[in-house]
This record gives sequence, structure tokens and C-alpha cells, in this order.
Amino acid sequence: MTKMKAVVLEKTGPAEILRVKEVPRPSSPGTEEVIVKMAFAGINYADILSRKGMYSWAPKRPFILGIEGSGVIAQKGEEVEECEIGEPVIVGTQSGTYAEYIKVHKSRIFPAFPNYALRENATIAGSYMTSMVALKEMARVRQGETILVQAAAGALGITTCQLAKAMGLKVAGTASKEKKITFLREKLRIDLAINYTTQDFVREIKEWTRGKGVNVVLESVGGKVFQNSLRVLAPTGRIVLVGATSISYSKKNPFSLYKAWRQIPRVNLLKAIRRSYGVLGFHLGWLLTSSREILTPIIKELQEIIVTNDIHPVIDNVFTLEQASEAHRRIETRENIGKVILAIDETLET
Ligand SMILES: NC(=O)c1ccc[n+]([C@@H]2O[C@H](COP(=O)([O-])OP(=O)(O)OC[C@H]3O[C@@H](n4cnc5c(N)ncnc54)[C@H](OP(=O)(O)O)[C@@H]3O)[C@@H](O)[C@H]2O)c1
Repeated sequence: MTKMKAVVLEKTGPAEILRVKEVPRPSSPGTEEVIVKMAFAGINYADILSRKGMYSWAPKRPFILGIEGSGVIAQKGEEVEECEIGEPVIVGTQSGTYAEYIKVHKSRIFPAFPNYALRENATIAGSYMTSMVALKEMARVRQGETILVQAAAGALGITTCQLAKAMGLKVAGTASKEKKITFLREKLRIDLAINYTTQDFVREIKEWTRGKGVNVVLESVGGKVFQNSLRVLAPTGRIVLVGATSISYSKKNPFSLYKAWRQIPRVNLLKAIRRSYGVLGFHLGWLLTSSREILTPIIKELQEIIVTNDIHPVIDNVFTLEQASEAHRRIETRENIGKVILAIDETLET
């Protein structure tokens, strides 16, 4: 049996538990399946949650980590007409991209964006698609509107700021460190960058919008950040909730469970009526597995926007498969500005 290298999650725990293992290489794709030789895997916050046993969408352990990446088609089933052997593709799936090969249903792949490097294509399925759905399908943004992006220097924050700017929105974003604020101001050139550790973002947003509030908030932190984000919504504003990064717990520690419970975003819908705002939420994974027809036009539109506006992914760091624990630590310590990726076979890029 031919073997391959992969990062298999056998038990939950800290970043150090991640190790490369030799596992059987997938073979014989089903009629509607493809086998992709992976070039790069994008790391998502969801992978950190999976490793900690906190991600409800993760498959049953043991499984190979990784929900996005890029590579080339190595084999395909008889009924796969959408791609050819050797064609570069984007992979968006429930697990398995931290590996040399992955076997997936054809609905989990998209053609790679031409003129974008394979490492850039590894970041499309997770962050860019999520930002697109948040802005276009959920918030239904209009040119000239204002948006507040929480955790704006994270992977999802950056892609949301980039796309929102390209769609003609005025963009404000928050971050915790001065190096992130400098990046948001000088590199991303958003309209307002707020260091929420030294500034009160509610006051800053009220001043920025002359008391009106913003039309849209992209929220992924939870707890007080979510509650205060509701306070800065303009009438008919929309908050799009995609996660709650501040939630952390250990099943063995009841106090941590209580603390996590308190961080869960909650809304009083009577208040939403009185103040006239909308609360929206979605999970890209759910859409990938249940509603590919919603995502197909979105990825086309995304490609148009990023090509027309010459938008490129911000890649914070590239690690090897063997350095997966280091890559996870970089995200957990909140040092990353943008996307952390794993290089699996860089030669596929040339
Ligand atoms: N619903 C979906 O389909 C979907 C898709 C993609 C991502 N997400 C969610 O979106 C969020 C961001 O994902 P990402 O990939 O952009 O992650 P990321 O690059 O790690 O960014 C997350 C940022 O959140 C901020 N943060 C605030 N409180 C935190 C805490 N207690 N612990 C850690 N970080 C904290 C940090 O920025 P500061 O240091 O500046 O505070 C951190 O850099 C996650 O919750 C993820 O699960 C959801």
C-alpha cells in the first residue's frame, strides 16, 4: 500500500500534539470523486477549535486536519467532467487538507484563480468565500455604506476589509496590537483603525459616523465585543456573526464552561425591533456541504472582484507540514497578520 504524510488528529490537546504520520494514500476515486495532490493548506481558526475538541462541524476523530487548500488534480472518477488531470484547483472541505493527497467529492473543488499563485489559491475557500457570503448574501451591502470589521487584522478580517473597500464601503476595523493597527492603516488603508485595548471602539465609531452608527458589522469575537457591536449599529444596520473566537473551555473545568457560556452571543429580539437592526449568522462549511449552488456564482463574482481590484491574499507565514504545531501556535498567540499556510509541495507552484 502506498503511503503519504498527513497530520492526523487522534486526540485533542495543545498545539504540540500535532505530528506528521505516514498513512495510506487515497486511491481509486469514486465516479464523482477526485484525488488532489496538495500544494498548500490554509490554516483556519476552525482547525484550532478542532484540535481543542471545540468544533462541532469536525468529523469524528481520528481525522486529517484541514478544511482548505490548493493543489492539482492527480486522479478523477469517470463522471467528473469539470476538471482535467493536472489542473490546479482550490479545495474547500470538512477535513483532510494537511496531507500530501486528498480524495474529495467533485463539489468540494473549484478551479484555481488563474494568475494567482497556488499558495494564494490556498486561502480562497476559507476566508475570501466567508467574507463574500457575509458581505453579499447576508449583509447585502451597498456602495457608500459603512462597515465595522472586528478582529480586522486576522485572516477573515483582512479579506473582509479588502472586499468591502473594493465594493465601495467605508471601512473601520479593530485590532489589539499597534503593529496590526499600523498594518491596517498603512498597508490595507482602511478608513479607521481602532486599537480596542487603548480606545473605546463604541465611542470611536459614534464619532466617525457622527452619531449615526455603522450599516454593517462583521463580528467573530463574541462576549462583550458582540454586545458592544450591537450598540454601534445604525437603524436598519446588519450584524453578521461568523464565530466567537473569545470562547474557550475545557470540559474538565466547570468554571471554564460557565465562562464560555457567558461569551455566547445573545440578542434580545424585542430590542432589535425597537432599534431596527438585523442579526445574521452563517457557517461556510454548512453552505459547502448543503448548498454548493449558492457558492458557485459567489466564487465567480469573488474572482471578478479580486482580479479587477488587484487584490492579493495577505500571507503572514508559510510553515511546512512538519511545523503544523508552530503554525497553530502562531495563530493562537494572535501574532498573525493575515493567513498562515502550510507548504506541502511547493514544486507544484512552478
Ligand atoms: N462562519 C464561518 O463560516 C467562518 C469562516 C471563517 C472564519 N470564521 C470565524 O472567524 C473568526 C476569525 O477567523 P480567522 O481565520 O480570521 O482567525 P485569525 O486569523 O486567528 O483571527 C482571529 C483574531 O481574533 C482576535 N481575537 C479576539 N479575541 C480573541 C481571543 N480570545 N482569542 C483569539 N483571538 C481573538 C485576534 O485579533 P486581535 O489580536 O486583533 O484581537 C485574532 O487575531 C473565527 O472565530 C473563525 O472561527 C467563521
